[in-house]
Amino acid sequence: MTSSHYRRHNLEQLVRAALNHAKQLNKPFDHKIIAAVDQFHIGGLAATLKMIELAGFNPQDKVLDVGCGIGGAARTIACTSNCHVTGVDLSEDYCQAARLISKQLNMGNQTKFIRANALKMPFKKNSYSALWTQHITMNICDKKALMTEFYRVLKPAGQLLMYEVLCTTRANDSVNYPLPWAKESKDSFLDNIHNYGALIHNCGFELNHLQDVSSTAIVSIQRVIERIKQGGKKEPGLEIILGESFLTMMENLLEALQNDRLSVVEFVATKPSTPN
Ligand SMILES: C[S@@+](CC[C@H](N)C(=O)[O-])C[C@H]1O[C@@H](n2cnc3c(N)ncnc32)[C@H](O)[C@@H]1O
Repeated sequence: MTSSHYRRHNLEQLVRAALNHAKQLNKPFDHKIIAAVDQFHIGGLAATLKMIELAGFNPQDKVLDVGCGIGGAARTIACTSNCHVTGVDLSEDYCQAARLISKQLNMGNQTKFIRANALKMPFKKNSYSALWTQHITMNICDKKALMTEFYRVLKPAGQLLMYEVLCTTRANDSVNYPLPWAKESKDSFLDNIHNYGALIHNCGFELNHLQDVSSTAIVSIQRVIERIKQGGKKEPGLEIILGESFLTMMENLLEALQNDRLSVVEFVATKPSTPN
C-alpha cells in the first residue's frame, strides 16, 4: 500500500539528526538547510526553484502543496515568494516531520501541514490561488478524481503546477521496482503524456506549459548515485526517508529514464476565470 511505503520508523529522530548535522556545518539556518532530505523528488531544490519561477507567486497567493511529503517545497515557496503555503499529505509521519522542521526554522506561521487524502481534501471549493504537486500522481490510480478535486479547491484563474513522473510505453510493468514511490508495481500508477494532457483539458483546465525535463532529471540522479557510491551516505540525504533500498531505487529510476520508459514532465495549467 502507498501509505506503508511512506511510513518510516524513527523519522522524527532522523530528521532531528539531519538538522543537527546541518547546524554543525554552520550553514545558514533557512529553508535550504536540509534540502537533500526534504525535497523528495528528482532534481531536489533546483527543480522546485524552477517551478517557482514558472509560477510567479506573489505574497497574496494562498498555495496548496498536495502530497507535500516533509514540506521542503512548501517552505521554499513560502520563503522565496513570501506567501502562505498549506501542505497536505496522506502520511501523518511526514506531516509531523514537516511541522517539526517548520517550527525549528521559525516558519510555523508561513506553513501549515494537514493529514488528508488528495482525493477528498478538507477544503471548501475555490479556496486556493495555486495548487502544487511534485511526484504524487504516480501513487494515485484515479487521476480523473484527483484532477476534479484539484479543480474544485482551486480559485477561478488559479494555477495548477505539476512536476510528475510519467511512463512513455506500457505503464507499470515495463520498469523495474523498487522505485522511490513504490516498492512494487501494484502501488505504482504511471500514465503517459497523452492521457495527462487529455485529463487536464477534460477536467476544465487550460494547459499553459508542458516541458519534458528528463535530461536534467537524468543528470541529477547520476549525481545522487555517485554521491552514495562515494560513501556520501554520511551526509544525510533521501535515504533517511527511503531507507536501505534507496540506491537500488535510484538505479532503477535512472535506467528507466535512460531507456525512455519513464519521463519527467512539468505542467502548468489554469482554471478559467469564468469556470463552466
Ligand atoms: C515522492 S513523495 C513526494 C513528496 C513531496 N511532494 C516532495 O516532492 O518533496 C510522494 C508523496 O505523496 C504522498 N501521497 C501519496 N498518495 C497520496 C494521497 N492520496 N493523498 C495525499 N498524499 C499522498 C505520499 O505520502 C508522499 O509524501
